[in-house]
Amino acid sequence: MKNIILTGDRPTGRLHLGHYVGSLAQRVKLQNSNEYDEIYVEIADSQAITDNASDVEKIRQNVIEVALDYLACGIDPKKTTIYLQSQIPELCELTFYYLNLVTLSRLQRNPTVKQEIKLRGFETSIPAGFLTYPVSQAADITAFNANIIPVGDDQLPMIEQTREIVRSFNSLYGETLVEPKAVLPENETCCRLPGIDGKAKMSKSLGNCIYLADSSEEIKRKVMSMYTDPNHIKVEDPGNTKDNPVFIYLDAFACDKHFSKYLPEYKNLDELKAHYERGGLGDMKVKKFLNDVLQEVLAPIREKREMYQKNIPEVYQILFEGSQKARKVASETLNSVRSAMGINYFEDKELIEKQSKKFLNNDKS
Ligand code: TRP
Repeated sequence: MKNIILTGDRPTGRLHLGHYVGSLAQRVKLQNSNEYDEIYVEIADSQAITDNASDVEKIRQNVIEVALDYLACGIDPKKTTIYLQSQIPELCELTFYYLNLVTLSRLQRNPTVKQEIKLRGFETSIPAGFLTYPVSQAADITAFNANIIPVGDDQLPMIEQTREIVRSFNSLYGETLVEPKAVLPENETCCRLPGIDGKAKMSKSLGNCIYLADSSEEIKRKVMSMYTDPNHIKVEDPGNTKDNPVFIYLDAFACDKHFSKYLPEYKNLDELKAHYERGGLGDMKVKKFLNDVLQEVLAPIREKREMYQKNIPEVYQILFEGSQKARKVASETLNSVRSAMGINYFEDKELIEKQSKKFLNNDKS
C-alpha cells in the first residue's frame, strides 16, 4: 500500500505560530523526509464557505494569504500538491453519495461540529452545508486515497467520521476506499500554543496571535506584552513556568544553540526554568530571550514570504497546477466509486448486454 498524506486548512485568516508548531513545521518535516509516496495540502475554501456564505470575499482574500504562508514555511510545490478544494468538483459528487451513509443524528453528535455550532450561534438555524461539512471532509480525504492525516486533536472527530463512511461504503459496495488514520503532532505543547494573553488558544477573533507574516517590530511588541505568571510581581518572587505562555513558547521554539547565542549564562531551558521557579529572574529578561528566538525562527519565513509576495501570479499558477493534478487523482477515485456503486452505466458493457438479453427474453415469452 502507498503512504499518502493529506491535510488542509480553512482559509479564514493568515496562519500564526499556533499553526506553525501545531502542523506546518511537521508537514515540512514529513515532506522532506522523502518517506511518503504522495503529499497533498488542501486549501479548504469550500469548507470555509459553509460558515461564511455571506462573506466569500473574505475567503477569496485569505486563499492567497494561506498559500503564501505555506510556501514561506517551506512547503515545496515540487514535493507537495497544494490545491484549492473548490476547484475539484469531483469532491462534491463524492460528498453527495457519502451523505447517504451518515445519519443526521450522527452529524449532530460530532463534538467538533457541536462546539463550532455553539461558537457561531447557529443553534437555532444550522446551515445544512455546515452540518454536513465533515462528510465533505471525508470526500477530501478519500478522493486521494490518503491514509495518513496529520492534524490537531480538534480534527479527530472528522477523521473518525471519515473512517465510518469508508467502512460503510466498502461494506455496501465492495472494497474501494482507503481508511485513513490521524497523526497528531509529537510534542504535546506543540498541539496547543496559548495566545499571548494566556488564553487557551491563539485565535484571530481574540486578537492574541503572532502571525507568520508579522514584522520584526510587531513580534517584539507582542512578546514584550505577553501575559506571564501574575503572581511573579517582584524579580525575587518565585515564578510559575507551567502555565506561563512565555515558557510554553520557549518549550516549543528554544533549543540549546539559542542559549549559547543569546543567553549564555544558561545551558538550556531546564536551567532557565529552575532559576525562574526559585525566584530572582525577571520577566523582561526571559521575554527578551524569547524575542531573540522567535526573531531567528521567523525571519527566514518572512523573507521567503516577501519574495513570493513580489510574484503573486506565480503563486496562483502553483495553486492552478496543484489543483489540476489533484483533480486528475480525484476523478480516478470518483470513477471507481461510480463503478463500485454500479452507476457507471455507459462503461458497463455487461450491464448493457444483460439488459438487452432480458428484454429480448421478455419479448419471446
Ligand atoms: N477541517 C479542517 C480545519 O478546520 C480543514 C480540512 C479540510 C482538513 N479538509 C481536510 C484537514 C482534510 C485534514 C484533512 O482545520
